[in-house]
Amino acid sequence: MKKKVLATIVAAAMSFSLLAGCGSQGAAPAPEAPAATEEEAPAADAAEAEAPAAEAEAPAADGELIKVGFAQVGHESDWRTASTNSVKAALSNENGIDLQFVDCDNDSAAQLEAVRNFIEQDVDYIVIDPIVSTGWDTVLTEADDAGIPVIVIDRTIDDSDKYVSWVGSEFTNEGLAAGAWLKAYAEAKGIKELNILEITGTTGSSAEIGRTKGFHQYVDSEGWNLLDSQTGDFTQDGGQQVMESYCKSYAGKFNVVICQNDNEAFGAIDAMKAAGVSYGVDKDVIVISFDACTAGLQMVLDKAINADFQCNPLQGPDCLKLIQALQKGETIEKQTFMAEPWYVAEDVLKDISYKNNAGQDVTEPLVVVDAATVEAAY
Ligand code: AHR
Repeated sequence: MKKKVLATIVAAAMSFSLLAGCGSQGAAPAPEAPAATEEEAPAADAAEAEAPAAEAEAPAADGELIKVGFAQVGHESDWRTASTNSVKAALSNENGIDLQFVDCDNDSAAQLEAVRNFIEQDVDYIVIDPIVSTGWDTVLTEADDAGIPVIVIDRTIDDSDKYVSWVGSEFTNEGLAAGAWLKAYAEAKGIKELNILEITGTTGSSAEIGRTKGFHQYVDSEGWNLLDSQTGDFTQDGGQQVMESYCKSYAGKFNVVICQNDNEAFGAIDAMKAAGVSYGVDKDVIVISFDACTAGLQMVLDKAINADFQCNPLQGPDCLKLIQALQKGETIEKQTFMAEPWYVAEDVLKDISYKNNAGQDVTEPLVVVDAATVEAAY
């Protein structure tokens, strides 16, 4: 394969990019990014800084397929399936990509090994959805030394800046939005006391860290009673097991369950059903979830889940655009936030207002789910 040596790495524009519509935006990891060929490199303007030249290479200048390795988290949820499908559809042979896909089965050591294998094989780009947010600097340094640009999607890497771009969700805003909604909803329904059980996602993942951080700001500021918080590892089985134990330990003592993804909520709902606990709209227990996948929104439509805060998994097209831009030597965004609506079961509140993770006062609409919403979901 004929390759052009990239002599200069130009820092990407540091502006934030929100893809479309309403949704979350705010602070996220933000170091420097590539890239332009020696011949094509534009002069760095005031917003762009020269970065040390990693000897990256521009592959496929002659029309050969571009080799991309994707180290995916696993297959733990409906969300994850949608993410995998989105990346596979975009990074296809038809689009000029030879994709190597590795399902890391939620095993961080396996994910590091997958990335090292990609480096060994000298792929042209590496895409990572990091299971956990730390432990990355050494392997990303190895990729950098090998001149292989790394694109991060969905979850963030928080202990290294050696990747060229990240595209994903502002998880803290998702948690803040859930807290703002619960506060306003309880007021609207005249619910005076909130006794909350929480089922968190994979410990140490940025999705778990951000949603917990955001929601707990409301727990603390409103003085809500957080009875317990345990991980369900973003799986249906995990959600069910935790909820079965909660139903025994906290029988009759809770009126809110917050699950950090839809699959955990499905498991928690099964456990409540088995324990004879009523849940959903105007029942004993308010159910809050994240993701808003098709089955999750169907449960919102069925009034079994009260509110579902979307996490958008469709990052494949963005990945493709980033690779295409890097191929042309264009400057790329360092970080891109997905647009994410908030879904509810009832027409009680039109919107929610809160201070987002970037410190901005925002008011965002609540979408009441109907059949068309479910039909259009991922
Ligand atoms: O990182 C995104 C999270 O991971 C989604 O909320 C969840 O469903 C997935 O497992």
